Amino acid sequence: MTDAPILARPAADIAEPLALYVHWPFCAAKCPYCDFNSHVRPGVDAARHGRALLAELEHEAGRAGRRRLVSIFFGGGTPSLMPPEAVAALIARARTLFEPAPDLEITLEANPTSVEAGKLREFRAAGVNRLSLGVQALDAASLGFLGRNHSAGEAVAALEHARATFPRLSFDLIYARPGQGEAAWREELRRALSLAADHLSLYQLTVEPGTRFATEHARGAFHLPEGDEAAALYAATAEEAARFGLLPYEVSNYARPGAESRHNLAYWRYGDYLGIGAGAHQRLTTGGEVFAARRHRAPEIWLERVERDGHARVEEEALTPVERGREAMLMGLRLAEGIDPARIEARSGLDFDAVVDHAMLEALMEEGYLRWLPGGRLGATMEGRLRLDALLPVLLR
Ligand SMILES: C[S@@+](CC[C@H](N)C(=O)[O-])C[C@H]1O[C@@H](n2cnc3c(N)ncnc32)[C@H](O)[C@@H]1O
Ligand code: SF4
Repeated sequence: MTDAPILARPAADIAEPLALYVHWPFCAAKCPYCDFNSHVRPGVDAARHGRALLAELEHEAGRAGRRRLVSIFFGGGTPSLMPPEAVAALIARARTLFEPAPDLEITLEANPTSVEAGKLREFRAAGVNRLSLGVQALDAASLGFLGRNHSAGEAVAALEHARATFPRLSFDLIYARPGQGEAAWREELRRALSLAADHLSLYQLTVEPGTRFATEHARGAFHLPEGDEAAALYAATAEEAARFGLLPYEVSNYARPGAESRHNLAYWRYGDYLGIGAGAHQRLTTGGEVFAARRHRAPEIWLERVERDGHARVEEEALTPVERGREAMLMGLRLAEGIDPARIEARSGLDFDAVVDHAMLEALMEEGYLRWLPGGRLGATMEGRLRLDALLPVLLR
């Protein structure tokens, strides 16, 4: 990687709004596919953990300054295990520490067990206005394979309850499961779409290193669709979603126009975000520099540090202009709307040609992976979006 600091300008941070991510690192059970920072611990002191989140929020807000707040996202782990009072306190505090946008999006990820479904009204009363339910599959065998501790009936009941409770609703499904053919997936997806969410996250099952599935997959316990088969499932997904008016605005995210997740858009448009809680990442622009930080991953150490120092940041570095440009491209090309070269230049402080290799850009266009979009934006085609991991290293300088 070559850097060109001499030619770089500061990263423009004028009016860069803020998204806030809050991580709850605990789950009732560990799913065999999951490599998120999630832990199963007996007897979590949830009230104490909630107080520490509040302390870390106050600490970080003091450094970030009074910015316009466009989104709060409670992710995990399983944030639906949080005490609703802790969620309410964090929302109320964030509203006073920042300038809340009139359409502030407040999302909470929930697992659809009956226990958690029973708390939905309290989360709504706490200020949550968007729920993201981890449904994952709609039949008992698949839910069993994925190690989920909810039934298909519970998932449908939770969806109905959530639809009646929250103005905005999304749910997640994991497809391209072992032996799942295209016809079966189309049928499952149609059922899911008829449950009438205006946003869906549809992920192809990935075997992540270090998970139980990685061990089982390595010894041949199951096989996943790959190559053309996986590409056909992806194309079928977009087709079915489009029939219900949901468009793929990002690689794995589908929404009715206007129902896109503002929080995720903040990441993909390379906006600023504050991340609090164990293992959370953040990107903050101050004084023309973009600072990347992350926090202790282990919940116990995180808690101890926050109680001692007010925060559990372990690393913070100013990104180089080239790193800023690369990150902005990596994020932006995931979106159907693509990237605006002027935005890449503003956030990196570099000319667009110092971020991308122009000859490679031309070549990738000729091969049908990238294309110019209206308004001078650059986007990946569907083929390109399926291969971003391979394309970006050759495209970026
Ligand atoms: C932080 S997790 C979900 C939160 C919540 N605890 C749950 O399980 O519903 C976010 C989403 O990532 C997806 N996911 C996690 N690991 C995955 C994997 N290995 N392959 C595909 N999707 C995955 C799942 O759909 C999951 O709902
Ligand atoms: S998928 Fe969700 S519930 Fe399962 S371990 Fe990961 S974060 Fe926890």
